[in-house]
Amino acid sequence: MTTSNRDLRDDIRDYWSERATTFDDEPGHRIDADMAAWQALFRRHLGDADGRALLDLASGTGEIARLCQSLGFAVTGLDWSVPMLDRARSKMPDVTFLQADAERTTLLSASMDVIVTRHLVWTLVDPKAAFAEWFRVLKPGGTLLIVDGDFVSQSLLSRIAKRLLRSGTNRAAISPQVVRHNEILARVHFSAGARAGLVAAMLNAAGFDRVRINTDLAQIHRAQSAQLGWRKSVLRRLEHRYAISAIKPQDI
Ligand SMILES: C[S@@+](CC[C@H](N)C(=O)[O-])C[C@H]1O[C@@H](n2cnc3c(N)ncnc32)[C@H](O)[C@@H]1O
Repeated sequence: MTTSNRDLRDDIRDYWSERATTFDDEPGHRIDADMAAWQALFRRHLGDADGRALLDLASGTGEIARLCQSLGFAVTGLDWSVPMLDRARSKMPDVTFLQADAERTTLLSASMDVIVTRHLVWTLVDPKAAFAEWFRVLKPGGTLLIVDGDFVSQSLLSRIAKRLLRSGTNRAAISPQVVRHNEILARVHFSAGARAGLVAAMLNAAGFDRVRINTDLAQIHRAQSAQLGWRKSVLRRLEHRYAISAIKPQDI
């Protein structure tokens, strides 16, 4: 009999590590023609950068770090996957990328003006612990910006569109990567989908103030449409994708 101490976190980390070399080539991941649209979204929620200290959690290949640097933030990236960190470091040798678990960053309390994260929340094992950790690391008055989505539950319209646009897809055609993705998804906290309302309620419970949900990502979707192709672009617009910003109160 073999025994193992591996847990869900190991599986999630290994899954992303295996995707690191090809991640930027997959449509919708690398920020390219959509850069101006992302910059506009981040400016809307974060205001002028003014050299403030910003932590990009789950920085992956460094695309959001690159975006934030272009806006004028003093960026630190953090990810737990070494292959992802290698990619990010090779793209931006002047940025510090740390290896750590986003749920336990080990960073100093009240050390960051801004924390941003794209496409991490849906895969958190313990979001309550993560949000408490991010609250701790932010300075009083600091801002958190989450960009994420519910990639599980689908509206009726979305189900119909999927059926029409992917009519040739069958079980045999699903790649091993998608099977693994779905197996992980079934075990994470938001296995039924990271709805913005649920995430916002947890941020409020963690002590954040002025929690603002923004589901208008149309400018980004428009800018991505050439990269995505029309089928994927239509499906993406029907998904529940959002940005949420929240403030750590000043009087903490
Ligand atoms: C979908 S990629 C997103 C990368 C990047 N944020 C972006 O939007 O381009 C998910 C990333 O989250 C990282 N990740 C997932 N859970 C993490 C955790 N608990 N701590 C640190 N990194 C994590 C993975 O290693 C992977 O690089």
